[in-house]
Amino acid sequence: MSEAGHKDRFLVGGGTRLEGEVPVTGAKNSVLKLMAATLLAEGTSVITNCPDILDVPLMADVLRGLGCEVVIEGDKVSITTPAEPKYAADFDAVRQFRASVCVLGPLMARCRRAIVALPGGDAIGNRPLDMHQAGLELLGARSWVEHGCLMAEADALTGANIGLDFPSVGATENILMAAVLAEGETVFTNVAREPEIVDICNMLTKMGAKIQGAGTSTLTIQGVKSLKPTTHEVIGDRIVAATWGIAAAMTRGDVRVTGVNPKHLAVVLDKLRAAGAQVTLEPRGFRVVQEQRPRAVNTSTLPFPGFPTDVQPFAIGLACVSEGTAMITENIFEARFRFVDEMVRLGADARTDGHHVWVRGVERLSSAPVWSADIRAGAGLVLAALCADGTTEVHDVFHIDRGYPAFVENLQGLNAQIERVS
Ligand code: UD1
Repeated sequence: MSEAGHKDRFLVGGGTRLEGEVPVTGAKNSVLKLMAATLLAEGTSVITNCPDILDVPLMADVLRGLGCEVVIEGDKVSITTPAEPKYAADFDAVRQFRASVCVLGPLMARCRRAIVALPGGDAIGNRPLDMHQAGLELLGARSWVEHGCLMAEADALTGANIGLDFPSVGATENILMAAVLAEGETVFTNVAREPEIVDICNMLTKMGAKIQGAGTSTLTIQGVKSLKPTTHEVIGDRIVAATWGIAAAMTRGDVRVTGVNPKHLAVVLDKLRAAGAQVTLEPRGFRVVQEQRPRAVNTSTLPFPGFPTDVQPFAIGLACVSEGTAMITENIFEARFRFVDEMVRLGADARTDGHHVWVRGVERLSSAPVWSADIRAGAGLVLAALCADGTTEVHDVFHIDRGYPAFVENLQGLNAQIERVS
């Protein structure tokens, strides 16, 4: 797995048209949850097509702390779960990355109790767990916060009618993974419909879970007594794929992206068409060709199948170099516009107003030192740097390494001028 230094930065030369083919590996937002799901069954499960990103070994450490044996070999992760996993996730391991909170549901299902450190907020906004707690409570658990940890316990978990206030991805996953081993039927409404949720449902079904409605707003789950281990391939990362597609449009390039289901990013590809790109779909990928300067397109983030919040920084990047004015609206995370100030440093004509950003496109951005605040903001700055005069220094790239395997190598493969400096 990638070893990235905390002081590493990227030097990015602007002005090159991206051209060529880039493969996408497994989705970050799926693999970590699939790894957590292996806690649900005693024995050895194998997950393939895992991305080479730091969060995978970090999640492996969380699982080891719970008594699992984890072996990572290339893109394959084998996890052996004991008959009785421990129920307290190690504070230091959990604190390092937010997604580790997805062990909560499986621990409740297997151990009827869980202690998981509260991950806290992060650069993109306040990230509470109230919906996770409310759902588990409807299944019969008690939950409270003590000494910086979320504590939960239940004498038994019993199927229930649960409706989310908002289709939260994380709450859907945790409640689903608890309900599969609860007694009786759970009817779970207003759930998230992201492809990563469908991926977990598919894996849980192979493990013996009884779930109907994956990919719709209602999941109906018949609890079963136990699950068995399985082998599962992670779906391709639609957010990484969208990054390369938008990079092609921003640099007026010609890029083929492989290893992803293009239906998983249909709304992003529609926006690229609206910006003037020719988009061709393939069974396991797509091609984006942009000949003229892109046209400005308004974009609003929404839960799937809407425009993903994780792709919003690239929509802003695209608007910054497009012809015309666009309004980008963020509806999921309240603090996701912090990186707009960094874009302004690169010469963008952008102004935030509440949860909207107004962007007037400029012909060319101009290089400057900039700092990544999170994974997607960091990648968004690199894309902007590819459209700037001169060489841009992008700092704090450890954020980018968390979400993009072989980021520099993939861009170099597309003719970009980018190098890592330690
Ligand atoms: C996941 C993704 C993240 C993506 C997000 C939305 C992972 C590891 N991360 O995050 O990349 O941007 O989905 O697609 O898969 N909320 C509450 N209470 C809760 C839970 C959530 O108020 O109990 C709010 C959040 O503050 C946020 C919104 O719901 O405003 C959506 O969050 P959610 O869908 O839960 O995102 P994550 O699962 O954390």
